[in-house]
Parts: sequence; C-alpha cells; structure tokens
Amino acid sequence: EQIAIGVAHSKLILIGEHAVVHGQPAIAIPFPLVGVESVIEYVPGTIKIDSTFYHGPISSAPKSLAGIVRSIYETLDHLKLPHRDLLIQVKSSIPPGKGLGSSASVAIAVVKSLFAYAEQPYTKEDLLYFANLSEEVAHGAPSGIDTLTITAECPVWFERENPVYYIKPSDDFHFIVADTGKYGDTRTAVESVANLFKSAPKIIQEKLDRIGELTYQAKHALEKAGKNILGQLLNEAQKELEALGVSDATLNKLINFARQEGALGAKLTGAGNGGCIIALAQNEVHSRQLADKLRKFGAHAVWPFVLKRQDSE
Ligand code: MEV
Repeated sequence: EQIAIGVAHSKLILIGEHAVVHGQPAIAIPFPLVGVESVIEYVPGTIKIDSTFYHGPISSAPKSLAGIVRSIYETLDHLKLPHRDLLIQVKSSIPPGKGLGSSASVAIAVVKSLFAYAEQPYTKEDLLYFANLSEEVAHGAPSGIDTLTITAECPVWFERENPVYYIKPSDDFHFIVADTGKYGDTRTAVESVANLFKSAPKIIQEKLDRIGELTYQAKHALEKAGKNILGQLLNEAQKELEALGVSDATLNKLINFARQEGALGAKLTGAGNGGCIIALAQNEVHSRQLADKLRKFGAHAVWPFVLKRQDSE
C-alpha cells in the first residue's frame, strides 16, 4: 500500500498587495504557524478528494475546486500517472479567504504529495508551475507571490517578471496577525482594483506607484532602518489600500485598535475586504499584550509571530 505526503506552510504579505498585480514590487513572509498537509493513498477506482470543503469523486468536485483539480490532472500527466486509483486527503489549518494564501498552500502541498507518490524529485520551478495552474483558475490574474512565498524560507522581494530576492532582516520584528472573521474573496478584490484602474487610470496609477515606493522603503527598513520606520510605512500603505477600496469596516476596526494599543503600524494583509490584519508590535512583551487585547476586542484568531533577524554574510 502506497502512501505519500506533501506539506506547505502559509504566507503573509507585509506590503505591496494589489499593487504587485500591476507590476509593483511586494514583500511577503512565509507564515509557518498555519499550513496544509496532503496525504495520498492508493485506493482503487476513480480519484477521490477528502477535504473540509468536499468529500467525493474528483469528477463531481464543486466549481470552487476547479483550480486544484486542474493542478492535479496536469501534474499526473506530467508524472505519467493515470487519472485513477488515488485518494487525496487535504488537511488544512489555514482559514480560507483570510489573505493567508490558503488556496496556494493547498496547491503546493498537493503537488508535492503527487511527486512524492510518483517517487519523483521536483524542483521549485515544478512546484510553482503546477500550483500556479490552480491559482490562475482560482484568482484570475494572480501575481504568483502567494505560491512563491509558500515555497520560501525567508522574506521575499517579489516583482512580476523579475527574479526574486531574499531579504535578510537586521533585527527581530514582532508581528501579530489578527483575523476579522470576515471572509474576503481574492478574485473579487483584485477585479475591483482593475475596474477602478480602468475608470481612473491616472489617479489609481499614482496610488499603485506610491505603494511601490513604500515597499522599497520597507525593504530598507527590514534590512537597516528598523521597526519604527517600518511601522510608519505599514500605516502609509494602509491609507493607499483604503483609497483603492480594498479595506473595510471590520479591518479598519482592528487596525485602529492595534494602533491605539501601541502598535508601531498596522494594515490589512492579502486581498482585503475582510480577512486579516498585520500589526507590528514594539517588542516581545508588547506583542503578547497586544495579542491578548486583540483577542478580547473580538478578533477571531490572533497569531503573534517573530520574523527573526538573519545575519548577512
Ligand atoms: C493576495 O495574497 C495578494 C494580491 O496582491 C493578489 C496577487 O498578488 O495575486 C491581492
């Protein structure tokens, strides 16, 4: 009896979401506190999927799974495996629709497990190629930042069409991710910015450029200037995201509360319109306090996590 496993962590966008779809850079961080495990077993008959959303034959999977179904078929073809005799179990601790890259993590974990099942080695390019097939269906015009960050171990500087660059933080940064509890759809949010762009290209381009500038400064803050500057940049980026119409009352409420309680900066993370915020705490002690306060204030889930300093050689 053959059994194979693939795992993937999730991701956070620190700064640059939405603008990255339009050619600006973005910085994203691997987020290991939640993730996905895909387990494949030999079970005779048609391929079956067992996940939180759906349990049954792949051929009758709902439309929301069309992306991952595409990745599965294309990966099987690449591996020269028949479209049968598999049970694919997907277990995820990533809340979907919260800007944490749940769909991309599922795709990466499933593709890894298929390669493991076929006992074939994969390259990072293989993973990205087959997982991005799913993301294209799920998100329309994904930048590719989600899948890329999910295969990374340290913060990434990401620009469409350009090679990635790994960022080495010069200090420990204490972040808190807090969930509004509201589901936000990435495709809708990305489309709303595209529509805004069509109706007022000049004004929107200025905002996208501004987010790009803030992202350059944020890289410098991570590498040299430090957390106080980074906090201010996160706040500035949030202003632009609000102007792009992708923040909402649930996000603003948590963001304002975090700032009031001493966060150096706070903004939405991911596609927005619900989903999660990312806040930068002053230090470890403050991070714990702020996390408790956000929980009491009503955040659905709160994850404090440290982006560790990395010595550059
Ligand atoms: C989603 O995590 C980030 C967006 O910029 C979309 C994308 O880059 O594909 C909103």
